[in-house]
Amino acid sequence: MPDKTSCGALRPDAAGATVELCGWVNRRRDHGGLIFVDLRDRDGMTQVVFDPEHPCFATAEHLRNEDVLRVVGTVRRRPAGTVNLRLATGEVEVAAEALEILNRSQVPPFVVNSDDPVDENLRLEYRYLDLRRPRMQENLRLRHRIVKAMRDFFDERGFLEIETPMLMKSTPEGARDYLVPSRLYPGSFYALPQSPQLLKQLLMIAGFGRYVQIARCMRDEDQRADRQPEFTQLDVEVSFCTQEEVLETMESCMRYVWQRVLGVELAPFPRLTHKEAVERYGLDKPDLRFGLELADVTTFFGGTEFAVFRSVVAGGGAIVALRYPGGAALSRRDFDALTETAKQFGGKGMVWIALSSDAPKSPAAKFLTEADVTAVRDALAAQDGDALLLFAGEPALAYAVAGKMRNDVAERCKLRDPDAFSFAWVTDFPYLEIDEATGLPAPAHHPFTSPAPGDWELIESAPLQMRAQHYDLVLNGYELGSGSIRIHKPEQQRRIFEMLGMSPNEVEERFGFFMRALDYGAPPHGGMALGIDRIVMLACGEETIREVIAFPKNQVARDVMMDAPAEVPAQSLRDLLLEVRSPT
Ligand code: AMO
Repeated sequence: MPDKTSCGALRPDAAGATVELCGWVNRRRDHGGLIFVDLRDRDGMTQVVFDPEHPCFATAEHLRNEDVLRVVGTVRRRPAGTVNLRLATGEVEVAAEALEILNRSQVPPFVVNSDDPVDENLRLEYRYLDLRRPRMQENLRLRHRIVKAMRDFFDERGFLEIETPMLMKSTPEGARDYLVPSRLYPGSFYALPQSPQLLKQLLMIAGFGRYVQIARCMRDEDQRADRQPEFTQLDVEVSFCTQEEVLETMESCMRYVWQRVLGVELAPFPRLTHKEAVERYGLDKPDLRFGLELADVTTFFGGTEFAVFRSVVAGGGAIVALRYPGGAALSRRDFDALTETAKQFGGKGMVWIALSSDAPKSPAAKFLTEADVTAVRDALAAQDGDALLLFAGEPALAYAVAGKMRNDVAERCKLRDPDAFSFAWVTDFPYLEIDEATGLPAPAHHPFTSPAPGDWELIESAPLQMRAQHYDLVLNGYELGSGSIRIHKPEQQRRIFEMLGMSPNEVEERFGFFMRALDYGAPPHGGMALGIDRIVMLACGEETIREVIAFPKNQVARDVMMDAPAEVPAQSLRDLLLEVRSPT
């Protein structure tokens, strides 16, 4: 009986053995009367040689890429000069003695045996072929190892993995719910979980103390490179803990995963308060792989002749400056393009100043004094050859635009080391932020977050100044995760709902079950959730999470392979007492 072996296993010490290999035809070459087939499976590739003397040669002549084969043959060393050191099995080949075609393949719609670029929708339509490609095999393998390391880490620390339901009631995380109509209760709907937030808090009330879950979450929101309608969280909750303990646990987990899976030792993560992050980097998810700190130069322009800046300062706005290293060499057209980018980020415009040993160049030159330029230049520690970029407007907007431009400039100047991992904690978030969609104050995290210890009094006088016990973990400019210490006293939870404008009836309707649970001895608790798709994306060096999810939705939230979402049979709608109207 031949030994069944994988296509990645054979080495010279197997020479002389008879083996059986199963896999896909990666490539067939006809060469000097012989046929060579690279046979591929999940472990690698082995060269199989068909000799014209042998009866199976005739079958081999008809093989096409992606056909599925079973081959039996003898392992032999490759002749000198034909060794392929790029392949783990490259010192041997298998001389075929029997060949069975287990299944034929149509000509694939794109080349499977290389990672050459292919239109993404085509890749997603034939995802099972796309997943055969080496890069995708590698990404999903790495994903498995990362998730396994996470599970091991929490298991070693005594956490229990507990599953929470998919069919449930809305847990608000700031997105729309996906709803599932109920057949047994027509007119009623389950909500798919945006996160297991309330359930993990209930597990703390139930006394489990340390919970972890690799949790699927569903959110109906606009798609981006780092967002999918369904995604996976590493979800954690701990009772009787401080914020410091949660941070230590999650940071240790990341260190464990990076060390075990990527062989990288991570330095302790720097910590920034939300205020520091915004003032220095413009954003609450700063990319710390490069410097380029911003400077607030508002005070320099109080009495400026430059009308645009003067009116911004007079109106309580801010002027935020950014250095563009070597930017003095840019053309006017380049600066116009940068200004356009700033507008796309929501800015009103951008003023640039190019520094050289001569007088500085700027479209606003005649309104700017030498003292203005020197002050900005010194604030940014800029030099001749650099450009200064200034963004003026309502403070939150001016910082946000400058922060996004900081990333943009870093990209243009190649300041982001693609191999570096720059983690950071951002803490002390404001409790409320202005919701972009509604313009109204809404929790920066979720309404179950506890305000900072000394800040409860502000709820009456200045709620927008309240800080939260809310922390984020950031990696290379991406938000990896968020968490908080929770409210565990029912009266405090009621007070927060009241501040958010919810009536007692609405609280009862939406969260009555949870409020009752808080009444039965809820322990102090807190936790966090990290986005696993984002973690794997960054670990793989990919630019979208779609590259690390086996069957993702496309950029407009469709599954183009299954063609979902799709209409359903009329009877299914009748069962649910639902009627579909055409959009007006
Ligand atoms: P939050 O809503 O911040 O917190 O989510 C935590 C992390 O989940 C990931 N994430 C996503 N990943 C891909 N696609 C999406 N649409 C998406 N939405 C979120 C991000 C994000 O940082 N219950 C709280 C956590 C807690 O307080 O314990 C929560 O879900 O990486």
